[in-house]
Amino acid sequence: MRASLLLLPAVASAAALPAINWAACTGDQLPFQAPDVECAKLSVPLDWNDAQSTNVSVGLTRLKARNQTQRVGSLIYSPGGPASPASPLIAAQAAGESLFPQNVTDLFDLIGFDPRGAGPISEPAITCNLNQFNKRITYLPTSEADFNETVETQTAMWAECANLTGPLLYNIDAVSIAKDIEALRVALNEGPLNFLAISYSTIIAQTYAKLYPSNFRTIAMDAVLNHNISATAQYFDEAQGFEVGLHRFAEWCNSSSVNATDCPWKGQDVLSIYNETVTNAISSPVPAPDCEGTAIGTPEGCYANVTGEEIIIATQNGLLYKNPRAGITTGWSGLAQALSLAAKGNGTLMSQAYASARLANNESTIAYNAAATQCDDYGSGLASFSDVRYRMELGTEVAPLTRALSFKWAAQVRCLGYPKGPTNPVSDMDVNNANTKPILITQSKYDPNAPYIWAELSRQAIQSNTLVLRDGDGHTSAHLDSGNGETAEVIGQYLVTGVLPQQDLIVST
Ligand SMILES: *[C@@H]1O[C@H](CO)[C@@H](O)[C@H](O)[C@H]1NC(C)=O
Ligand SMILES: *[C@@H]1O[C@H](CO)[C@@H](O)[C@H](O)[C@H]1NC(C)=O
Ligand SMILES: *[C@@H]1O[C@H](CO)[C@@H](O)[C@H](O)[C@H]1NC(C)=O
Ligand SMILES: *[C@@H]1O[C@H](CO)[C@@H](O)[C@H](O)[C@H]1NC(C)=O
Ligand SMILES: *[C@@H]1O[C@H](CO)[C@@H](O)[C@H](O)[C@H]1NC(C)=O
Ligand SMILES: *[C@@H]1O[C@H](CO)[C@@H](O)[C@H](O)[C@H]1NC(C)=O
Ligand SMILES: *[C@@H]1O[C@H](CO)[C@@H](O)[C@H](O)[C@H]1NC(C)=O
Ligand SMILES: *[C@@H]1O[C@H](CO)[C@@H](O)[C@H](O)[C@H]1NC(C)=O
Ligand SMILES: *[C@@H]1O[C@H](CO)[C@@H](O)[C@H](O)[C@H]1NC(C)=O
Ligand SMILES: *[C@@H]1O[C@H](CO)[C@@H](O)[C@H](O)[C@H]1NC(C)=O
Ligand SMILES: *[C@@H]1O[C@H](CO)[C@@H](O)[C@H](O)[C@H]1NC(C)=O
Repeated sequence: MRASLLLLPAVASAAALPAINWAACTGDQLPFQAPDVECAKLSVPLDWNDAQSTNVSVGLTRLKARNQTQRVGSLIYSPGGPASPASPLIAAQAAGESLFPQNVTDLFDLIGFDPRGAGPISEPAITCNLNQFNKRITYLPTSEADFNETVETQTAMWAECANLTGPLLYNIDAVSIAKDIEALRVALNEGPLNFLAISYSTIIAQTYAKLYPSNFRTIAMDAVLNHNISATAQYFDEAQGFEVGLHRFAEWCNSSSVNATDCPWKGQDVLSIYNETVTNAISSPVPAPDCEGTAIGTPEGCYANVTGEEIIIATQNGLLYKNPRAGITTGWSGLAQALSLAAKGNGTLMSQAYASARLANNESTIAYNAAATQCDDYGSGLASFSDVRYRMELGTEVAPLTRALSFKWAAQVRCLGYPKGPTNPVSDMDVNNANTKPILITQSKYDPNAPYIWAELSRQAIQSNTLVLRDGDGHTSAHLDSGNGETAEVIGQYLVTGVLPQQDLIVST
């Protein structure tokens, strides 16, 4: 009786909303077959500020709660990137990989959210010219002529992206995406939002909470970035985080639990050899013999030599995750192999690592979105060569091994020549949730990519929250130990119950 009474109003109101038509995923929507995963598209205005706007579609995947009778609701999941689709991870979870605590997959329909422009389910995808995108640029120009060359390369590249993509290029910012999340919440028709946002997606989550402080039940943010700091502060903070990460890597290499197979530099002065390797590569790129003859722009393509700048960027990427995870990362031991090989004059592993982190290829163009998203959300902030020189001076002082070249720096250089100023410039990110629901933040102490200070800054701007510190290494905590680490457990408990853990909690896994 009760069920049939509830059915009528639910159907009536759902008819008035844009429906989500869940269906079996088709051939190319997921990277592999995952039978329990359903796919859908949500139609949203390309430009939320224009009533006449055409629509684009946002890709969604769903993995239903195992315990339907105890089901709490839907949990929107966005893994960061920027611009990474969640769908491949939902597929991985369905195929048997464990990313979330059991409580969460038992009690929530997991909804993988693919940001607008991401492809393949979200349509259309941001499109650039592959060869132009993969052209090498100088990230640390030492002369105005070098700087101008980078600006010229980037200007031509972005002009073609704008041509191929159209106005969507300027509408993939966090405000547009937060509004898409709200449209998704309304379309799900289940009441307040539950949202798990990782890394770059925490900017979307903070924006959502700022715009809609009364519309969520839970928001868990892991490895937060901040959107209320100057361009200089961003790269400066991150360069420090990267520097700390390098020092932690060096300590790890010489710790008693690590042997010379896992870290070939064991017993040596890791930081000095690292610095020497980069210095040598800056004056003469390290040959990468296995990359010779590969085609840049295919999944196997890598440059036939690796520069000092590319080693720095690939090293920061290698520091992201300490432990190996099949198909995702070779962990610190993989980084150690690549570095020691490069120090011996073979740049193959480093060049491959750089290519997989930074280049686009004919099977994955997510790097386009990642680069463009940051231009919409932050912009370059580098107006001239004297800006560059000033910041390099500052950056090399606080982060001498990093030589100022953090991910944020690379993103800022990449945004030189972007045809428009940021759609969503940095601004206050105050969240007025004192009388609504609290937010959970988790951050690792030595995150090389999302330095701890960013969590502190976000904590100050959000009226009601708890910040949990993971006393450990690497970027993000939510998926550690197959989604069974202490941080994952804390996140899971909060999502299930809506109750925050105690303030100032410190966990270790
Ligand atoms: C565009 O999306 C909105 C919902 O976000 C929907 O109401 C509208 O019907 C869509 N327009 C078109 C032309 O599909
Ligand atoms: C889900 O159902 C299983 C089997 O009935 C039960 O063992 C488990 O505790 C349930 N999970 C939750 C989080 O209640
Ligand atoms: C979640 O699972 C843990 C065991 O893994 C259990 O102790 C806890 O009570 C569960 N929490 C909820 C809210 O179901
Ligand atoms: C660099 O570009 C600026 C602006 O176009 C120009 O004024 C300057 O002369 C150029 N410098 C060099 C060294 O080419
Ligand atoms: C952009 O498209 C126009 C019209 O097709 C073309 O004339 C122009 O050369 C293109 N510009 C770039 C940078 O691709
Ligand atoms: C080094 O340690 C790893 C575990 O981290 C182990 O698998 C490997 O067998 C060890 N190698 C040697 C030579 O002891
Ligand atoms: C790194 O190497 C450069 C170039 O040789 C040198 O100037 C710098 O002092 C070194 N930095 C550190 C921290 O060792
Ligand atoms: C590095 O490789 C590129 C091609 O990827 C080549 O054009 C360049 O000459 C090489 N530089 C050196 C110093 O070997
Ligand atoms: C360089 O390293 C790669 C990757 O380990 C290896 O396959 C290749 O044989 C090495 N090349 C030389 C010339 O040592
Ligand atoms: C990418 O390029 C490789 C090598 O040319 C080719 O074998 C492959 O089919 C291409 N993939 C796509 C999706 O175009
Ligand atoms: C950060 O937000 C505050 C208001 O809370 C504002 O005054 C300040 O200008 C913002 N800073 C930046 C860099 O956006």
